[in-house]
Amino acid sequence: MTEVQHGLEGVIAFETQIAEPDKEGSALRYRGVNIDDLVGRVPFEHVWGLLVDGRFEPGLPADEPLQLPFRSGDVRVDVQSGVAMLAPAWGMGPLLDVSDTDARDHLARVTATALSFVAQSARGSELPAVPEAQVDAASSTVERFMTRWRGEPDPRHVQAVDAYFTSAAEHGMNASTFTARVVASTGADAAASLSAAVGAMSGPLHGGAPSRVLAMIEEIERSGDAQGYVKGVLDRGERLMGFGHRVYRAEDPRARTLRRVARELAAPRYEVAEAFEKAALSELAARKPDRVLATNVEFWAAIILDFAEVPASMFTSMFTCARTAGWSAHVLEQKKTGRLVRPSAVYSGPGESDPSTVDGWN
Ligand code: ACO
Repeated sequence: MTEVQHGLEGVIAFETQIAEPDKEGSALRYRGVNIDDLVGRVPFEHVWGLLVDGRFEPGLPADEPLQLPFRSGDVRVDVQSGVAMLAPAWGMGPLLDVSDTDARDHLARVTATALSFVAQSARGSELPAVPEAQVDAASSTVERFMTRWRGEPDPRHVQAVDAYFTSAAEHGMNASTFTARVVASTGADAAASLSAAVGAMSGPLHGGAPSRVLAMIEEIERSGDAQGYVKGVLDRGERLMGFGHRVYRAEDPRARTLRRVARELAAPRYEVAEAFEKAALSELAARKPDRVLATNVEFWAAIILDFAEVPASMFTSMFTCARTAGWSAHVLEQKKTGRLVRPSAVYSGPGESDPSTVDGWN
């Protein structure tokens, strides 16, 4: 009997040298380097380099002055369609037909431009585009991103967003990364592979939930009673947002790193978040003693993004920006295997049927 692994849970489809969360040890390493050693020390463009090339340099190039080709009013749609258009616009050949070096450069160009598209779309069509002369080619990727979005960004916001991008850059085999690899395995071009991954992130089951964490923080700010709020949520049989994780059986290492950054930046909601976390952890431990329910990345990501004045409507797109690094690394790794992804399914539909027995036949 063939056993179906619904949702591919537990199925090992690829071998990777990029990263895999250490589920028991509560660590996340990019090519062996702990993210805690990267966040706040290595700018995102070089973390991209580490993930894709296995070394920090040369990393991600500066984005090119290219206008967002399409505006729908939805940042995700703008970015997904804008990125897909890059291959024809740049005459970018399929991954199957280009060298590994060229594929790497295509991914770098597409990534840099994807971030620029997110920034332009976030700025909206009401405001004029930031003049190109203001976007310093020598500045960091996140600084450029924030400049294209805001004009003149607060350097502490740049620091916060850079920390978030690095901590969310890669996380092993998740739905969008899997999508990027599947598309890359067909030999499609780099833009098609990354654009498909953006689409995979649009669903609420993968796109992240930091906005729901903020909603809870706001409730606690109103009542001033973290303990009472936590008890109320759990008594109603509801879940505390930002706690628990499908993979980790210990604290999510990204939460630890982002907590440290939130403390260092003196994020205004740091104290209320800490009170919420403390109350939640003690209540969850008392009510679910057999299960480790610790803080996950969404919790402290919410505080960091809130500090950088990123509206909740932009949280998924920020996640997209960060994850372009992991996707690029996986697309290149997949290309190098030269193997088409083609799983199987067990057919469980009707046996051979006369078409006249099927509804709608004349
Ligand atoms: N608050 C309260 N109880 C919880 C929570 C929580 N955040 N998380 C799990 N539990 C409880 C469940 O009610 C369940 O209890 P039961 O056995 O009495 O029914 C038990 O713990 C196990 O829950 P599962 O859903 O089986 O645990 P799983 O590991 O599959 O779920 C998940 C992981 C979905 C993230 C869950 O912990 C959750 O819903 N958290 C809140 C939402 C959240 O923070 N999402 C972001 C996750 S991080 C990320 O995706 C990058």
